[in-house]
Amino acid sequence: ATATVFLNTERRIGEISPLIFGGLAEHMGRCIYEGIYDPASPLADKRGFRSDVLRALKDINYRILRYPGGNFVSGHRWQDGTGPRSKRPRRRDLAWRSVETNQFGLHEFMEFAQELGALPMWAVNLGTGTIQDAADLVEYLNLPVGTSFSDLRAENGQKKPYGVQYFCLGNEMDGPWQLGHMDAVAYADKAREAAKLMKLMDPEIKLVACGSSNTDMATYPEWDRTVLERMGDEIDYFSMHAYAGNRTDDTDSFLASSLHFEDHANTIAAAIRLAKAKNRSKHDVYLSWDEWNVWYKTEGDNGNWQEAPHLIEEVFNLEDALVVAQWLSTFLRKADIIKIACIAQIVNVIAPIMTKKDALFKQTTFYPLMLFSNHAAGHSLDLLVQAPVHDTKMYGGAAQLDASASFDTETGRGALFLVNRSQTQSLDVTLKWEDVAPEGFTQGWQMSGHDPKAHNSFEQPDEVTAHEIELPALDGPQTTLSLPPLSFTVLLS
Ligand code: AHR
Repeated sequence: ATATVFLNTERRIGEISPLIFGGLAEHMGRCIYEGIYDPASPLADKRGFRSDVLRALKDINYRILRYPGGNFVSGHRWQDGTGPRSKRPRRRDLAWRSVETNQFGLHEFMEFAQELGALPMWAVNLGTGTIQDAADLVEYLNLPVGTSFSDLRAENGQKKPYGVQYFCLGNEMDGPWQLGHMDAVAYADKAREAAKLMKLMDPEIKLVACGSSNTDMATYPEWDRTVLERMGDEIDYFSMHAYAGNRTDDTDSFLASSLHFEDHANTIAAAIRLAKAKNRSKHDVYLSWDEWNVWYKTEGDNGNWQEAPHLIEEVFNLEDALVVAQWLSTFLRKADIIKIACIAQIVNVIAPIMTKKDALFKQTTFYPLMLFSNHAAGHSLDLLVQAPVHDTKMYGGAAQLDASASFDTETGRGALFLVNRSQTQSLDVTLKWEDVAPEGFTQGWQMSGHDPKAHNSFEQPDEVTAHEIELPALDGPQTTLSLPPLSFTVLLS
């Protein structure tokens, strides 16, 4: 089969926000304890942070980290994670039926995020928490000393305000599983008042309101419309969450998942426009896809009241990595509206990195995340893709090629991201530049294989990785390369 991709560096969708390369670090399972923070590990540094984990996270190059949840946040008392460690309470975490020791808390997270060079994105508790708790947290994090909570921060070792910019107004409040779940009107009203108090504390902060937890919710997308209409003018971003899966072992459909991701983003973008028009507003709201990933093989919210229980430690395979690559391409194709995104989560819990006491391995999904995060920069290009279309049970017609590209006008660098969705057919792709073609490619990588279920493990950590490829030569403004079935290819110019 053959396909053609037309590129034009002048035809741009939008500026790529570096914050689409973010992750969720939740107090859940072994994400924090035994993941990020494990003083008992031989690999821990003097702060108790796993040095091998830090290295791998730095390779991914996260720009923003959402914390402390997830569902966990809706029962979380932020003060529990401050002050001397020996005095911090052990609590029952009702979201994951686990025991939270609070040995890693607010100051530890800030240090960790800073070490990674990632911006913190604090989720406030709008489940069991009050709007006053939310405002107090902003004072503690961001205000100069002189009043009670900022003074407490100084007492706890941090005189200078942290200056946290991004805050989420709760988590998945549409979900009946959420502690303190509300209907859309009640949530919008509480979130609007929380926003008011938080912005009175610090007018510089940016706020994210909760959108639907997923597209299967009975209230989707009515929840989104209602919340946006009632308080859209008070926020800067609106959240999307979604987890994809191959539940019926229908790999053809699963590999067409980006059709669904785009449809989801288009629907919420439409709700934003509708609310803006209805409110005669001039205010723009962007999308924060602050939980996304493949997740379907493992279930379980019951930690049996253990500390750091093994929860949803999903092992990802090749087809999962190809879906993750398409998801990242979706963010590029929607670069005009999607400005924040966080893969959920960053270590052990449905994560690209898995740890045991003295080692880690990188999952298949590590590679697309790392390649996009390090190389997609500047503007996203509006590609014209001509490729054979095949029928899928879940999403109808899907092109064999999923593609996205970035071009940085400052550096003149370009990056192309290509997924051949076919399980059996290779694809000869011709790339044609309509304006200025690059002088040549500088580097390229590929992930591919015959077995969509192939995966990595502690025993075989390099079963599925991205390897460097021989670069195709340019013939004037075009070139042709052959993409193997079940593959993800990156080309830099
Ligand atoms: O990432 C796991 C969980 O999925 C999060 O805690 C929750 O927000 C979502 O339902």
